[in-house]
Amino acid sequence: MLILPARAIIYQFRITKSEFMFQPELLRACQTWLSEQAKTPTITTLLLNMNFLDIALIIALNFLIVLFVVFIFSQMVLLFGFWGAIYVPTGKGTVKKILSLAKVKPGERAVDLGSGDGRLVIALAQAGAEAHGYEINPLLVFLARRNIRKAGLSGKAFIYWKSFWKEDFSKFDVVVVFGIAHIMKRLEEKLKKEIKADARVVSNGFPLPTWPQSERDSCVYLYQNRTKRDIHT
Ligand SMILES: C[S@@+](CC[C@H](N)C(=O)[O-])C[C@H]1O[C@@H](n2cnc3c(N)ncnc32)[C@H](O)[C@@H]1O
Repeated sequence: MLILPARAIIYQFRITKSEFMFQPELLRACQTWLSEQAKTPTITTLLLNMNFLDIALIIALNFLIVLFVVFIFSQMVLLFGFWGAIYVPTGKGTVKKILSLAKVKPGERAVDLGSGDGRLVIALAQAGAEAHGYEINPLLVFLARRNIRKAGLSGKAFIYWKSFWKEDFSKFDVVVVFGIAHIMKRLEEKLKKEIKADARVVSNGFPLPTWPQSERDSCVYLYQNRTKRDIHT
């Protein structure tokens, strides 16, 4: 414990170790210094009091924090740059608008493309649907699954760590998406090819570029299947 202040004194006054040891006033000064430091802990005193395990734990913790930050950053860059929409959760009011346009009936199968923290999947399941969500961000997958468990909806709501581009949408009655402008054309083509005749598509924020809207509530757009629309027009 006395090593650090003692070394400092030895260095400062150019004295030898043994000279130092025979100076009771110096020893007392070191002890006073240490007890003062103990009253107001500083980083130096904290470091002085640490053992090997403490230091190893701090290094491990810092390593984990760096890994976490790098992981989050890479997720954001990848999502924004290459795949699709970055994570922005839908507000409570908009969730209501989506549900009211989707008119989910009990027993129907609904999907949220890019399910984030699972709030829409949960809302769809609470409206009676068997609700599914695809999400590429593993942290959000973890969060959504936890939220589903908390809401008591295990067995009614499901989250897949998977890109929705690899999925076939033909099994769904309702498709919900909060995407981003540059994916909407490709998504429209995929939806038109795959969804059932009476399926509904609800898009939040970004309209499908060529598919006429059946209904709209501010920035939430409802589309019905092409065949059905053709029958009506
Ligand atoms: C704008 S957020 C919407 C989140 C959620 N649907 C909501 O309304 O709160 C879009 C989400 O889509 C996810 N995403 C983007 N591209 C995806 C893809 N190809 N497959 C699955 N998820 C994707 C993003 O990670 C992000 O969480």
